[in-house]
Amino acid sequence: MQVVIVPTPAEVGRLAAAKIGHLVRGRPDTVLGLATGSSPLAIYAELARQVAEEGLDCSQVRAFALDEYVGLPPEHPESYRSVLMRDVVEPLGMDPSNVHVPDGSAADVAAACEAYEAQIAETGPVALQILGIGANGHIGFNEPTSSFASRTRIKTLAPQTRADNARFFDSPEQVPTHCLTQGLGTILDATTLVLVAQGETKADAVAKMVEGPVSSMCPGSALQLHRDANVIVDEAAASRLTLADYYRYTFANRPAWQRFETPRG
Ligand code: GLP
Repeated sequence: MQVVIVPTPAEVGRLAAAKIGHLVRGRPDTVLGLATGSSPLAIYAELARQVAEEGLDCSQVRAFALDEYVGLPPEHPESYRSVLMRDVVEPLGMDPSNVHVPDGSAADVAAACEAYEAQIAETGPVALQILGIGANGHIGFNEPTSSFASRTRIKTLAPQTRADNARFFDSPEQVPTHCLTQGLGTILDATTLVLVAQGETKADAVAKMVEGPVSSMCPGSALQLHRDANVIVDEAAASRLTLADYYRYTFANRPAWQRFETPRG
């Protein structure tokens, strides 16, 4: 796992976006895994700047969302389809028909999950998966005790996750109780993982993910099993890492061939 500690939340976004921009320039129809939530917003803002000011072309990029609420119509402003269209697809000039989101309003949920996995398998592998982490260690919507072998499926949202996401809705009761999410096994199939976290509220989850045991109680710890997992955090989110100085030293002294912007593998 490569852990990179940077001073500010904006710098987290800049560094992750540098890696993604490099990938898209090298392969314009690359397959990205998109995450929602507040954490990746700085990445999308920086990529939008590269599109506007540096000629980055995302029009051929293909993308798969990590997850979607169950029970919200796709046109609901807080469905992850709507959020991704608003925050990512439009500002980056992506083609909406290249962007896939699990169908949270499907009558046959199991079939919708299977179809999503089949679509990823046909188009993929996902070259780079963007991730955030929940305060309880979830990635995507893989709540604690999720199997490391799991694939796209329906999950019940943890009470803490519903409370955390209530800020996007008019009242806490409006937060859906269920979601469809790529499984941990699906996420681990991506060639490169880039997880970003900012702020003190994520410090515990980050420490457990990076330095704790590999455990389904902290789904983010699955990243320890991946050969190209990159964790980019600001100082506040890094504040409970016991080996923070070692990560800083490692990054400062990385060999030229391991420059962060250059995707490995
Ligand atoms: C959300 C999403 C995750 C996200 C996490 C943290 O509910 N399903 O993909 O990484 O919870 O969210 P935030 O970045 O807003 O803290």
